[in-house]
Amino acid sequence: MPRCTALRAASTRRSRRGPPPGSPCRNPARPDLPADPWPRLVVACRHAALSVPPGTPGGGERGCRVAKVIGGMTISLDGFVADEHGDSGALYQDLAALHGTDYMDEMIAEAGAVVMGRRSFEMPEDPDTIADTYEFQVPLFVVTSHPPARHPRENDRLTFTFVTDGPESAVRQAKAAAGERAVQIVGGARLGTELLVAGLVDEVRVDVMPVFLGAGVRLFDDPRLAGVALERIGLTEVGQRVSLRFRVLR
Ligand SMILES: NC(=O)c1ccc[n+]([C@@H]2O[C@H](COP(=O)([O-])OP(=O)(O)OC[C@H]3O[C@@H](n4cnc5c(N)ncnc54)[C@H](OP(=O)(O)O)[C@@H]3O)[C@@H](O)[C@H]2O)c1
Repeated sequence: MPRCTALRAASTRRSRRGPPPGSPCRNPARPDLPADPWPRLVVACRHAALSVPPGTPGGGERGCRVAKVIGGMTISLDGFVADEHGDSGALYQDLAALHGTDYMDEMIAEAGAVVMGRRSFEMPEDPDTIADTYEFQVPLFVVTSHPPARHPRENDRLTFTFVTDGPESAVRQAKAAAGERAVQIVGGARLGTELLVAGLVDEVRVDVMPVFLGAGVRLFDDPRLAGVALERIGLTEVGQRVSLRFRVLR
């Protein structure tokens, strides 16, 4: 359970007296206040999540949970995220089988917002199909210099925001939308790399499929990445894919 949610639950049991002294969710702007009504505290926590430096691992300045930014893609064994025609289908032959697995369910539950590059957004032929079919039914933020002429169809949970003032702005907006859940950077290679170089990614997830594409869109093809240090924090086998997780060290 997220820390602030746990604190809220505990405090509610204490008949709305608010958090105990020294609680990480106490309102720092009014330390004199003995009891802080929960709705304001939640706002304070959300504010903390937005105000801490991007990438602060695990928690904000008062220990409230910060939306983690996860950069995740699936690659071929020779390091491509799509073939030379921009098609990544060969890497997702297991997509139907993944539905309903713990791996997929946890990833979906964890995501509060998604950020993607314009080319990744253009993957489906008809963008109006995304709202009904996409696994991540959350607000989507598309980084682009030219939003589409017609806004794609949305639903109650999946909305589109076309962000024209850069990837950092997209991550900032996605964090605000995600609340205490994670921001998933789903691609593509260029956007994911830019955000990693910019220090805006907390965790890198790379799934490797036993497929050779020979040519195409290469992931992490940027010499600036030599300055990024990682620590492996997970390795899972999911059918044919090997799922690797790394924490970005700062
Ligand atoms: N294997 C996987 O898991 C996976 C997942 C997703 C996508 N893909 C594949 O990845 C390919 C797309 O990746 P990509 O690297 O070519 O493109 P991308 O990262 O999806 O999109 C790049 C576009 O984002 C916009 N952008 C604006 N500012 C940017 C910035 N500072 N940094 C990066 N992007 C910025 C630009 O759009 P404007 O031109 O509009 O300015 C740019 O052309 C597709 O072929 C797709 O099939 C694979």
